[in-house]
Amino acid sequence: MSRKGILLAGGTGSRLWPITLGTSKQLLPIYDKPMVYYPISVLMLAGIREIAIITTPEDQPQFQRLLGDGSQWGVSFTWIIQERPEGLAQAYLLTRDFLDGAPSAMVLGDNIFFGHGLPEILLRANAQPSGGTVFGYHVSDPERYGVAAFDASGKVTQIIEKPKVPPSNFAITGLYFLDGRAPDIAAGIGPSPRGELEIVDVLEHYRAEGSLQVERMGRGFAWLDTGTPGSLLDAGNFVRTLQDRQGMQVGSPDEIAFRQGWITRDGLAERAKVFGKSSYGAHLDGVLKE
Ligand code: DAU
Repeated sequence: MSRKGILLAGGTGSRLWPITLGTSKQLLPIYDKPMVYYPISVLMLAGIREIAIITTPEDQPQFQRLLGDGSQWGVSFTWIIQERPEGLAQAYLLTRDFLDGAPSAMVLGDNIFFGHGLPEILLRANAQPSGGTVFGYHVSDPERYGVAAFDASGKVTQIIEKPKVPPSNFAITGLYFLDGRAPDIAAGIGPSPRGELEIVDVLEHYRAEGSLQVERMGRGFAWLDTGTPGSLLDAGNFVRTLQDRQGMQVGSPDEIAFRQGWITRDGLAERAKVFGKSSYGAHLDGVLKE
């Protein structure tokens, strides 16, 4: 069964109020593109073409206006509403019918990844027939994330959400490759003291049975934070610096769809026309001329 994607793009965005009082966090710009373009690109790089997009009821129409049904990129979007932000693991309950037993890759709509060799590590995770794969990334402020604890031999002994005293500097990023049992496992956990169905409780289930791979994303990767006004601006500047220097796009679903062979040259040309005089449109024109 091929792996299906989940883009979790709900939540209140309260750490960015008042910016996100009137719009969804995941629709904010990261330099020249809406934030969701980046995590959608990650799923597409992993070769995933069936994607459920979970949003709040209020924001769904805006996401649909932006993203449509996915056919422009040769993928299909299934739209799902999360009434209240009751935790990341709830995504697996909401997508049970959509997944229909298939393994999944869930990405948080505010997580941005960039790095040499990203497609390879994604394809490797995608190829795992069972169990789960998550990614550990060295950060200076692990207490803000889910964190992995390791024993002396380097084996992961626990995944803990926002520990006051972090056992390591390895944060678990918002990208989760889990097998087809994820909805059942999520159904078996209860809410945490803060009232949420915690993703770390699902991951702990896999870890305890010995089927969780924690792949380290090395220093050649950027995993960018968008959680505060400052880090949001930094993420945009990072993308701008890279794109201007290299003349290449970070997180362009149009380009990825074309390179994956999911849309034709004519399809890409149509898209370039849609974007007209914008820098994104100019980039697509450049891809066509290569
Ligand atoms: O970014 C990686 C981190 O994401 C992980 O290291 C943590 O283990 C994981 O819990 C999560 O931590 P955050 O503090 O970033 O979680 P937050 O509640 O901010 O939610 C992450 C995103 O998911 C955010 O864009 C909003 C969205 N969300 C959140 C909840 C709780 C939903 O769509 N629905 C929800 O119910």
